[in-house]
Amino acid sequence: MSSLTLFFVCPPGLEPQLAAESRSLGFNGVKALSGGVEAKGGWPDIWRANLRLRGATRVLVRIAEFHAKHLSQLDKRAKAIAWGDWLGAQTPVRVDAVCRKSKIYHSGAAAERVAKAISAVAGPPVSPKAELKLQVRLDHDHCTISLDTSGEPLFKRGHKPAVAKAPIRETLASLFLRACGFDGTEPVVDPMCGSGTFLIEAAEMAAGLAPGRSRPFAFEALPSFDAASRAALRNTREPAEPSLEARCFGFDRDPGAVKAALANVERAGLVDRIEITRRAVAELKAPEGPPGLVIVNPPYGARISNQGALRAVYRTLGQRLKADFKGWRVGIVTSAPALAKATGLRLEAGPPVDHGGLMVRLYQTTITP
Ligand SMILES: C[S@@+](CC[C@H](N)C(=O)[O-])C[C@H]1O[C@@H](n2cnc3c(N)ncnc32)[C@H](O)[C@@H]1O
Repeated sequence: MSSLTLFFVCPPGLEPQLAAESRSLGFNGVKALSGGVEAKGGWPDIWRANLRLRGATRVLVRIAEFHAKHLSQLDKRAKAIAWGDWLGAQTPVRVDAVCRKSKIYHSGAAAERVAKAISAVAGPPVSPKAELKLQVRLDHDHCTISLDTSGEPLFKRGHKPAVAKAPIRETLASLFLRACGFDGTEPVVDPMCGSGTFLIEAAEMAAGLAPGRSRPFAFEALPSFDAASRAALRNTREPAEPSLEARCFGFDRDPGAVKAALANVERAGLVDRIEITRRAVAELKAPEGPPGLVIVNPPYGARISNQGALRAVYRTLGQRLKADFKGWRVGIVTSAPALAKATGLRLEAGPPVDHGGLMVRLYQTTITP
């Protein structure tokens, strides 16, 4: 099965960045679609996508695709699938279905038909509590059945145990770094670093470390899995010669956040690359050396504190950046346009992106010397 259709899921709005990342990792047939990126490949590509892609939330593989207007058609086509090639006989699987603008409109009934088809060919136990997930999607009577090869979403890197308030998802952080043009060679400053997500993602990108190096994946329970080749993949670095230049600096006024960030940096093995200091944004200074990228998601009103106090924080951030960060590029992630405006910076807004139910945007500028 060397030409499977793969789908790398990401939040709508960030598909171009995930497509660029997929191309840079050498995946074939990369196409940005709504909600993710399609690619072609075999099982080793699926393992590599799970291990390497920083921006994907999960990696799906297409099992079947057909037209189905009636449940009986769905039944027949689902029974014709060689389930044994895809699923192990012992690993429980769950079937989730969604129906959109289709004659088959009852998602529960669609999921049940596929579950019965799996059981009919003496496949694995089907259980709603299973970790391994099949996704059935009916859209305009077109049915696609995909297998989720990731398991836990890929923003759960497995080496970031300590959390501070309102952390940004690792997948989003990496795609926003890409959207800011970060290539691993320049210094990075996060003035309100919380648990250190932007810094850890940036330092790992510079070091060529695999984001999935510390976690298990759903594909490990599939018959297609070959532990020896996957182990070889886990132990390689990409790019082959990582840049050692990117230095990362994080600040936060909250001692709890500083402690969490330090613990995460240590767990990720990045103490040589990332410095964390307790400091309020009013005291923010640029590190010695050439300019680079400031990236930050300051608190947003919907989650923490009140708007008046927040406006003052954003204003101070803007003032410190203008005063001390000449020549630096700036990326600010926030849900509130009024707060972005309060920085007093001339910002360009990116598309809205769903961050756990809250729509945020990346605002960018360069501080002119
Ligand atoms: C939304 S969180 C950042 C989350 C972070 N990106 C992460 O992934 O964990 C905002 C952070 O700003 C910090 N903060 C708020 N006001 C600040 C100020 N005046 N100076 C420095 N840090 C501040 C908070 O302590 C909090 O950790």
